[in-house]
Amino acid sequence: MPILSLHEVTKAFGGLVAVNRATFSVEPGSIHGLIGPNGAGKTTLFSLITGFYRPTMGRVELDGEDITRLSTSARARKGLVRTFQGTVLFSDLTVEENIANGMLAESSSPWTDWLFESPASRSSRQERAAAIMDYARLSDLRNVGAKDLSHGQQRVLGIAIALAAKPRLLLLDEPFTGMTASEKNRLAEMLRRIREDGATIVLVEHDMRTVMRLCDVITVLNFGSVLTEGTPEQVRRHPEVMAAYLGSAA
Ligand SMILES: Nc1ncnc2c1ncn2[C@@H]1O[C@H](COP(=O)(O)OP(=O)(O)O)[C@@H](O)[C@H]1O
Ligand SMILES: [Mg+2]
Repeated sequence: MPILSLHEVTKAFGGLVAVNRATFSVEPGSIHGLIGPNGAGKTTLFSLITGFYRPTMGRVELDGEDITRLSTSARARKGLVRTFQGTVLFSDLTVEENIANGMLAESSSPWTDWLFESPASRSSRQERAAAIMDYARLSDLRNVGAKDLSHGQQRVLGIAIALAAKPRLLLLDEPFTGMTASEKNRLAEMLRRIREDGATIVLVEHDMRTVMRLCDVITVLNFGSVLTEGTPEQVRRHPEVMAAYLGSAA
């Protein structure tokens, strides 16, 4: 069974149909690419999947369960976690503090947990923060302020914060933007590790080389509709895909 499936998902903003009857499924344990020219509806689709927007029409299912009407927090508790295009960090907090904050997001009552946390739970949270920093190769930067990190490190921290919420399905919106080649390689390696460790990833990315080498399956959106879907090789050979990209550049 797919971990995520969309059925005829549609979102109109006034007269503009940003997402138009999008239907596709994501298999568990895959890195599933979502590509398309600027304005194709990729970010809007993420907002529909995570519940920031309600679709005008259509249905979103997680593990076969209809979640279309669930709140974002209810979806997060089911393991559906996104990162945003651009970096959203607490810039005055350290790397470690940002990750500890991310852990509160998984809880149903973060503030009471924070206030009434037992010493045992606090130390286990510190241990988990340490494990996540290790995972993201951020341990050496634990006491550095988020605002003092490089752009690429800030993006990795954004993903580490998402990991702190224990995602089963992680939605990443253009995480490679602005990274150096070596930062891209390290992030690609980390995404593969996340997949190996059992999470599923939906990746919106405009860096084609990265998309092609990382994704198992790619869905192409154009003007809000699914244009095609297939392996990287199939998508690369699809004549309308190149036309869509060239059209958007014109
Ligand atoms: N909140 C909004 N209100 C009105 N129009 C929007 C809103 N969000 C996105 N759009 C429009 O929807 C279309 C798809 O945008 P978006 O999902 O951001 O595309 P992408 O992420 O693929 O570049 C664009 O035409 C955009 O201007
Ligand atoms: Mg976008």
